[in-house]
Amino acid sequence: MPTRTPPHAPDSAESTEKAPANPPAKPRRTAKPKTVEDTSAAKPAPAAPKAKKPPAARKAATRAKAAAPATGRFITLEGGEGAGKSTQVRRLLERLQAAGIDAVGTREPGGSTGAEIMRHLILSGAAKPLGPLAEATLFAAARADHLDATIRPALARGAVVVCDRFADSTRVYQGALGNVDPRLIAALEQVTVGETRPDLTLILDLPAEEGLARAAARSGQGADRFESEGLAFHRALRAAFRALAESEPERCVLIDARGTPEAVEEAIWQAVSTRLKLPSPRRRRRT
Ligand SMILES: Nc1ncnc2c1ncn2[C@@H]1O[C@H](COP(=O)(O)OP(=O)(O)O)[C@@H](O)[C@H]1O
Ligand SMILES: [Mg+2]
Repeated sequence: MPTRTPPHAPDSAESTEKAPANPPAKPRRTAKPKTVEDTSAAKPAPAAPKAKKPPAARKAATRAKAAAPATGRFITLEGGEGAGKSTQVRRLLERLQAAGIDAVGTREPGGSTGAEIMRHLILSGAAKPLGPLAEATLFAAARADHLDATIRPALARGAVVVCDRFADSTRVYQGALGNVDPRLIAALEQVTVGETRPDLTLILDLPAEEGLARAAARSGQGADRFESEGLAFHRALRAAFRALAESEPERCVLIDARGTPEAVEEAIWQAVSTRLKLPSPRRRRRT
């Protein structure tokens, strides 16, 4: 039986400003970039000094590195408001970690320093007047940072990444419900996600009324930008997620989220252990 030490804060603390569940071990871009002057001072007769790569070239290099096959496993949880995604991300992480597997929890929007700032902008509703197209591009920008700073480094070291919402939420919220041109949604996904597609997506399925009741009963702050939409929106949301699960059965598993948290956890563990070849447990250090 896994221990139940929550790896992230309880739901009541799920604010728009909370740090990612498992922030990256090393914050990015904190190291001062080496300048030509730095190297010339250290070495008396330097060869032709290396020119600093422009930011676009650096990003291209990161993306090229990201294209290298990742060794970890990438699991996403999707579904409507109050379906139990955050609860189940925590439970899945605990099970993986109890099995000795290197597992990283993260979430969207957010999951990296830059993207958490954008989380506030999106979920506060500040960007709502700009419309679903602007929201889709904001999500894409946040996702690009999240992938570079958190997800790809963890996958590259062989970890299992468990992410609370990902690109399918953009497809559903801004695409299916927001009527943003599907070609644009696909293009944004192509440039941000690229090859880093989830290996497994668990879609938590629950009647909209039940999800909203759970979300309302959740202690903490009031409804966010999407929770405050009406019942018709949430019903359409559920239908869109179900359609998505049906359209990509190799990647997606529809999970009945009406049961107890324990029953849902079990269904998720079944799906994870039958669909994915999990990495080997980490070797424990000898003391
Ligand atoms: N299977 C479940 N049955 C009843 N309540 C649940 C279940 N799973 C989660 N909850 C509760 O419902 C609320 C919403 O769950 P949460 O995990 O925050 O959903 P989401 O992240 O999908 O919005 C929380 O208060 C949580 O404790
Ligand atoms: Mg949540």
